[in-house]
Amino acid sequence: MLGFRTGLEFLLLISTILHISAEFFKPFNVSYDHRALIIDGERRMLISAGIHYPRATPDMWADLIAKSKEGGADVVQSYAFWSGHEPIRGKYNFEGTYDIVKFVKLVGSAGLYFHLRIGPYVCAEWNFGGFPVWLRDVPGIEFRTNNAPFKEEMQRFVEKIVGLMRQEMLFSWQGGPIILLQIENEYGNIESKYGQKGKEYITWAARMALGLGAGVPWVMCRQTDAPENILDSCNAFYCDGFKPNSYKKPALWTEDWNGWYTTWGGTVPHRPVEDNAFAIARFFQRGGCFQNYYMFFGGTNFGRTSGGPFDITSYDYDAPIDEYGLLNQPKWGHLKDLHAAIKLCEPALIAVDDAPQYIWLGPKQEAHVYHISGHAAELNSSLAGNEIGCSAFLANIDEHNSASVKFFNRVYILPPWSVSILPDCKNVAFNTAKVGAQISIKTVGYGSQFSNVTEAGNLVLHESSYISKTWMTFKEPIGAWGDNNFTAQGILEHLNVTKDTSDYLWYIIRIHVSDEDVSFWEANEASPKLIIDRIRDVARIFVNGQLAGSAVGHWVRVEQPVQLVRGYNELAILSETVGLQNYGAFLEKDGAGFKGQIKLVGFKNGENDISKSLWLYQVGLKGEFMKIFSLEEHESADWSGLPYDSIPSTFTWCKTFFDGPEGKGPVSLDLGSMGKGQAWINGHSIGRYWSLVAPKDGCQRTCDYRGAYNENKCTTNCGKPTQSWYHIPRSWLQPSNNLLVLFEETGGNPFKISIKLRTTDTICAKMSESHYPPLHLWSHPHVFSGKLSISDATPEIRLQCDDGQTISAITFASYGTPLGSCQNFAQGNCHATNSSSIVFEACQGKNSCTISVSNKVFGDPCRSVSKALAIEAKCVSPANGSVASF
Ligand code: GAL
Repeated sequence: MLGFRTGLEFLLLISTILHISAEFFKPFNVSYDHRALIIDGERRMLISAGIHYPRATPDMWADLIAKSKEGGADVVQSYAFWSGHEPIRGKYNFEGTYDIVKFVKLVGSAGLYFHLRIGPYVCAEWNFGGFPVWLRDVPGIEFRTNNAPFKEEMQRFVEKIVGLMRQEMLFSWQGGPIILLQIENEYGNIESKYGQKGKEYITWAARMALGLGAGVPWVMCRQTDAPENILDSCNAFYCDGFKPNSYKKPALWTEDWNGWYTTWGGTVPHRPVEDNAFAIARFFQRGGCFQNYYMFFGGTNFGRTSGGPFDITSYDYDAPIDEYGLLNQPKWGHLKDLHAAIKLCEPALIAVDDAPQYIWLGPKQEAHVYHISGHAAELNSSLAGNEIGCSAFLANIDEHNSASVKFFNRVYILPPWSVSILPDCKNVAFNTAKVGAQISIKTVGYGSQFSNVTEAGNLVLHESSYISKTWMTFKEPIGAWGDNNFTAQGILEHLNVTKDTSDYLWYIIRIHVSDEDVSFWEANEASPKLIIDRIRDVARIFVNGQLAGSAVGHWVRVEQPVQLVRGYNELAILSETVGLQNYGAFLEKDGAGFKGQIKLVGFKNGENDISKSLWLYQVGLKGEFMKIFSLEEHESADWSGLPYDSIPSTFTWCKTFFDGPEGKGPVSLDLGSMGKGQAWINGHSIGRYWSLVAPKDGCQRTCDYRGAYNENKCTTNCGKPTQSWYHIPRSWLQPSNNLLVLFEETGGNPFKISIKLRTTDTICAKMSESHYPPLHLWSHPHVFSGKLSISDATPEIRLQCDDGQTISAITFASYGTPLGSCQNFAQGNCHATNSSSIVFEACQGKNSCTISVSNKVFGDPCRSVSKALAIEAKCVSPANGSVASF
């Protein structure tokens, strides 16, 4: 018998059990039919927000989830990151940023569902695609194919995660938020490389996953041969043409690429929200039922988690929530409006069993109409109550011209490349190309507003505040530094040696130069060259302790002239990884470092192949292994003061202390004055930094949303460093005395490093009086009881600063025919003189405000002219202006 000391104890236990199982939802089932996922017996149209938990800190999670929910998401989606959860084979980590249970629970407590993509191969621009690097060392292993050692390891991890979720009662049938799982990831892209074994592997993976009894459907994305009981799904910029591989399965869009990732030395991609909204509206128009933003929040690749090679530390992705957790406007707001419009259509969308009614509206125009049976006849009469019995999507896929179309005896003007959503088959609730949401311009970081690109790009930099005048440095030895080095014959593969415990591996050799060689070079005015057949990602060549040159690339050839002296010379080549490969077949064979021959050419007797010689190996940096970046160990290094404004030489550690900026807002560090390295705050790695500059050409002055998007279409930052601002999570900072340590490879000026709060600085909006009215009116009782009709309602501009901020000034307001765009507005011929005072009255000193765009508010400044309202305002944080002090 269980021994309960008191009845109260027993009751407490029971209530705890009840509480846990009923914490999030009443237990519910998830299944699907050809039309949709069926949640608790009902088909649903679902919007999902991709957020990768380790790309934020746990203290950010609740806010990110809340902002996703407010933006209209029903679901949060994340991969499970194997390399983070099992850094050492058999030793699991579910703490801190890897506390996946906490993350899923937060999603559940916000009332959202969860899509867990276990993989365990995840791609995701994550180091090694999410595989722990030790997996390469499992004897006989071949990844992602019918290979027993791989399958065993994969199954062990998948079972571990499913088991953990079940134990924590996180599946829907337990009252938890998990409604959907995923096994593998885009295996279809590489399956043919594995022949028959690939097919066998997929069959096995499906059977294994289904065998775990998780009780919710499994997805395989981009897997046209997904077995019968597994859903296949689409990942792409557009998925409206996607057809699942069985008529019994619904159309899911697991990755809607609403932005793109960035590589060092590359430009920064942006996806216009009008085009993303178009793609999504088209997807639901043509029968889709589940759409996930990859990413809704991209975040940061802290530490050495970024994949690649060469993926940058920021994973902002031009997502609706930016890297720092602030809203990326107008993206977030426009998509929120889209979601609300789709939600209004949900009853009709789920009611249609087969195809919607298709109506040809023109050569490049079409409508899809979803009726709840019996409602078709009501099209011309107003609907009773707020029940919506007929919903329609009107598309104009012409990328150049707008179209005027006739739909059920009414005329609609459709801008180019746009969809109008008519939740009642009559009134336009939303058009994908008409953005009513505000634009926000941030103090630091890159924005996505093209219309106001200036010479300085879209950075609005305020007087910068240098972080410190006092820096200490510590010189990292060139070459071997510890007693953990070893010698070996020939060139060892980089990862086999480092096991990815560091980016760095030294290859050191002694070269003897004879008198004859020296005379030969002098006589011919020549110098010898070092040739390496192929390197990745970075190689730095040192001769007798001096840097001779560096090479950067993905399996590129190196030819480096070297100055050798008579007698013995030390040649030390530092091989560096910058994020392990995360995509492609045969990842286990990929490796790093050097391939082919390494030789010295130009000697008197020809060349000297040193590939088979005896080499000295040293893994990592001395400072790294001493942990001189940590609060506990930083004093163990022999630091010396750096004279003010002098520039440390290559391979130098730099440290300083600084006070944290006041307030709660996100913080950013400008490392633009530095070269390449890694940075730590109070022992936490904020990631790699690198001031590699993007090509001068290839960026667009303006970004035209019309026409099919690809990641090269709307890019910024040409001729500038790909990334210079780095996110410091608030939870890693204390009010004063924060330790900043950098390891700098090539040299830079630490005195020019600055810190800044990232906040919204300027907000703007422009809306015409013919814009659609705010969506919340659709569920308003007055509208559907006939007191007000949607078409009588006036459009509204809503302005909002970040949490805690207030509107401090109205820098422009004009109702009439204002010209220009944000940061560039001007009055037109028609202008209501009361514009500024009305906006000031409504907004000044507030966090948010709403203003109707109508003559009712401003009077009519010019009859029979179509008018608009344009506003530009300033946001101010309570802690604005406060900077790090020393
Ligand atoms: C997909 C992949 C994702 C991510 C994305 C690009 O193909 O499934 O994990 O890598 O591409 O951001």
